[in-house]
Amino acid sequence: MKFFVDTAEIDAIRELHALGMVDGVTTNPSLIAKSGRDIKEVTKEICDLVDGPVSAETVALDAEGMIKEGHELKKIADNIAIKVPLTWEGLKACKTLTDEGHMVNVTLCFSANQALLAAKAGATFISPFIGRLDDLNIDGMELIADIREIYDNYGFTTQILAASIRSANHMSEAAKIGADVATAPPAVIHAMANHVLTDKGLDAFLKDWEKTGQKIV
Ligand code: G3P
Repeated sequence: MKFFVDTAEIDAIRELHALGMVDGVTTNPSLIAKSGRDIKEVTKEICDLVDGPVSAETVALDAEGMIKEGHELKKIADNIAIKVPLTWEGLKACKTLTDEGHMVNVTLCFSANQALLAAKAGATFISPFIGRLDDLNIDGMELIADIREIYDNYGFTTQILAASIRSANHMSEAAKIGADVATAPPAVIHAMANHVLTDKGLDAFLKDWEKTGQKIV
């Protein structure tokens, strides 16, 4: 499973990138607002750092506007994936932009039918939002499994990009189901390293080591 980082915070991306943990980046209007940065400036910095796809989201509501914004965003760098919402207009924009050869990430997906339409429209990535479904007491992971099954049934090549990831558990569950990509906030990727037994074990080893009075260096 590829790891995308769901943030527009350049320092956090840089740290994870140095560890080889960044296969791509996703941003959205909320994350750009949170960064306090200019969209083109910060997206360019991210694209200069990361070789993989960097999703930058359009904000127009009509297909023509999305296509226009997509073309503008694409000027930032070759590795831009144009992000459009899963609306009828978004699907139209997706078809045009992918026909032109651009990578398109169709976002705000909450049903298997929406994912099926995005694949038919040629989406490069489909972004089902797990956490926001869980918030409504609907099993977000079940949606990932349904999309996996449907895409595999018919050989769709659209990549399933599990989004709205809120916990380390979401990451392993998405990987078990076979999501192609998961995009997670930096804190979730860090949390994947944690285990209470690791902390406990390390503590015991260090206490025993201290008793030996030895030093390694
Ligand atoms: O990738 C989409 C993501 O940014 C949404 O996450 O936590 O705002 O639902 P969240």
